[in-house]
Amino acid sequence: MRLLATMLVVSLSPPTQLSGGTYTLADDVTVTRVGYGAMQLAGPNVFGPPADVDAAIAVLREVIELGITHIDTSDFYGPHTTNQIIKQALHPYPDELHIVTKVGAFRDVKGGWPHARTPEQLRQAVHDNLIHLGLEALDVVNLRMGGFDSPTPGSIAEPFEALAQMQQEELITHLGISTVSEEQIAEAQSIAPIVCVQNFYNLAHRVDDGLIDSLAEQGIAYVPYFPLGGFTPLQSDTLESVASRLDTTPMSVALAWLLQRSPNILLIPGTSSVGHLRDNVAGAALVLPDDALAELNGIAG
Ligand SMILES: NC(=O)c1ccc[n+]([C@@H]2O[C@H](COP(=O)([O-])OP(=O)(O)OC[C@H]3O[C@@H](n4cnc5c(N)ncnc54)[C@H](OP(=O)(O)O)[C@@H]3O)[C@@H](O)[C@H]2O)c1
Repeated sequence: MRLLATMLVVSLSPPTQLSGGTYTLADDVTVTRVGYGAMQLAGPNVFGPPADVDAAIAVLREVIELGITHIDTSDFYGPHTTNQIIKQALHPYPDELHIVTKVGAFRDVKGGWPHARTPEQLRQAVHDNLIHLGLEALDVVNLRMGGFDSPTPGSIAEPFEALAQMQQEELITHLGISTVSEEQIAEAQSIAPIVCVQNFYNLAHRVDDGLIDSLAEQGIAYVPYFPLGGFTPLQSDTLESVASRLDTTPMSVALAWLLQRSPNILLIPGTSSVGHLRDNVAGAALVLPDDALAELNGIAG
C-alpha cells in the first residue's frame, strides 16, 4: 500500500502554474517551459564573481520558489563561479529541478571565450561541471560549437562523439548541441540522440524559423539564447509600440511571443535581479492578441 501511495505521488507530480506548462525532453526529464538562464549571475562580462553573492543566491532561490524546474548554466560562466553559486544556493537539489549545462569553451585571462573542444578538454569540462554543481551525473549537456552567436561550418563529429562516450559512461544522461546548423544537427543525430538545440534566436533575429518547426516535428526542444537581446537589449519600434498598447514592457512581449511561437520553445531569460526574474515570469504569461501577434511576426529577422 505504501509503495502504491509512493508511486501515485511520483506519477501525479503537480502541474505547473507557470505559463506554457511543461515540456518533456526525455522520459526522465520534464521541465517547465519557463526556465532561467544563470549566465548573468557571474561578474561583469560573465567573468569573476558577482559583486553581491547573496543577491545571486536570492535569485536562484526565487527561481525555485516560482516553480521553475529548468536552470541553464555552464562551468565557463565565471569560470566556475556560477555553478558554485548554484550549488551553494540550491544543493541538495529538488527532485524536479533539471540543470542543463554546456561545454566547448574556456575563459582565458582576458575574459575571452576560446574553444575547448578536444576530447580531453571536454572530459575535463564535464568533470568540472560535476564537481562544481555537486552532481554524480549531468542531466543534459550541450556541446557549444560555432562562434559567439552563429554556427561555423564543419564537422562536429569528434567533439560530439567524445560527449556520446561520456553518456555511455553515465556521466551525462542526455545530449544537446548549441550554435549549430541543420547539417550539424543531422550529423550529431547520426552519432547519438539529442534532446535540445540551443541557438541565438529572438523576436528580432529569426534565422532559425524553419529549424524550430522541424525540431518541433521531431519532438526536440529549441532553447533560444539571448531571448531579450543578450548583451544588447532588443531594439524594435514595433515591439515598443505593441508593448505600450498592451500597457506592458517590451521584455514581457518578447518572452510571451517566444512562448507562443512554438510549443517546443523553452525560455531561459537571464537576470541577476529578483525583480526582473518575477517580471519575466509574469511577462511570459501575457496572452498576445492576434493583431499584436501579426505585427510582431512581421518584424524582420
Ligand atoms: N549556448 C550559448 O552559447 C549561450 C550564449 C549566451 C547565453 N546562453 C544562455 O542563455 C541565457 C539567456 O541569455 P542572456 O542572459 O545572455 O540574455 P537575455 O536573457 O536575452 O538578456 C539578459 C539581459 O537582460 C536583462 N534583463 C533580464 N530581464 C529583464 C527585465 N525584466 N527588465 C530589464 N532587463 C532585464 C538582464 O539584466 P539584469 O541582470 O539587470 O536583469 C541582462 O542584461 C543565459 O543566461 C545563458 O544561460 C547560452
